[in-house]
Amino acid sequence: MSKDSDKIVFSGMRPTGSPHLGHLAGALRNWLKLQEEYTCYFCIVTWHAFSSEYQNSKSIQQFTFEYAVDWLSIGLDPNKCVMLVQSDIKEHAELFLLLSMTIPLPWLQRVPTFKEMQKTIKGKDLNTFGFLGYPVLQTADIILYKASLVPVGEDQAYHLELAREITRRFNRFYGEIFPEPQMLLTEVPKLAGTDGRKMSNSLGNIIYLKDSAEVIRKKITPMVTDVRRKKRTDPGVPEDCPVFTLHKAFVPREKRDELAKGCLTAGIGCLDCKNVLIEALIELLSPFWDKRREYIKHPDTVRDILQEGNKKAREVAAKTMEEVRRAIGI
Ligand code: TRP
Ligand code: SF4
Repeated sequence: MSKDSDKIVFSGMRPTGSPHLGHLAGALRNWLKLQEEYTCYFCIVTWHAFSSEYQNSKSIQQFTFEYAVDWLSIGLDPNKCVMLVQSDIKEHAELFLLLSMTIPLPWLQRVPTFKEMQKTIKGKDLNTFGFLGYPVLQTADIILYKASLVPVGEDQAYHLELAREITRRFNRFYGEIFPEPQMLLTEVPKLAGTDGRKMSNSLGNIIYLKDSAEVIRKKITPMVTDVRRKKRTDPGVPEDCPVFTLHKAFVPREKRDELAKGCLTAGIGCLDCKNVLIEALIELLSPFWDKRREYIKHPDTVRDILQEGNKKAREVAAKTMEEVRRAIGI
């Protein structure tokens, strides 16, 4: 793998549901570019999934497979990046353990997501030791491969800041082993779900990458639009329309501007507008569906690719851990 830049990129996704349009617009599109430029590790973070799904842990394996299938089908290329499964590389756990001994408890207790997630995720007890340590495991993921660039959305900013602090502290105690990871801020468009609220796993309002043309049509056609457009002759404001959040992510600018004008002047109806979006999504996802069908038919190919990625990752992880153990003295 020879790339222009010797910088190492690491990012991960939690396999807690099937991959959806939000993953595509907010991360995967960017990963496709990054794999051309950098040495990239893309990780299915099964243990992070377990930290919130420990009462529903059987789903993690199925979603892990789906993530692998969808990543490959969208164009992540095992010859250009390393795809790995966190729980298959035990070094993540070892480094997590060692780091956890060095981190003052208040650093974790003040992480805003720790309290927020407990409030927003209902019906799950997230007041656990492991969930408190979530950002520590995330730090271990990143520095195990000596990654210096971490493409994530704004919601991960605090975790990344903490990862930097944890890394600095480690280096201060045991020597300069790890580069300080930098956040590569990815613009994550806010997509509305099919009920007009934010697209999210817990609300059941998601458009999945695997959804067929027919399902996409069925989900988008009845979506609520700008409330001003009660009648076909009422003009609307695209910025106030949930559907238009999807246009902004998936309909090319020129076409989108034209639709916006049509909306503002009541020159087009909402159904016309939605149909353009539906067709754009179908065109975008058709090659993905074709590839996905093939991978689903050949699950062993997918498993082999993951094994291969895990193997590459394990080699690097083992080397880092040797260095870490030597530096610490155990
Ligand atoms: N916490 C990230 C999220 O919820 C997932 C994640 C785990 C991650 N380990 C990582 C992201 C390492 C970047 C780097 O989206
Ligand atoms: Fe939304 Fe398009 Fe209808 Fe305007 S025309 S309200 S942007 S769906």
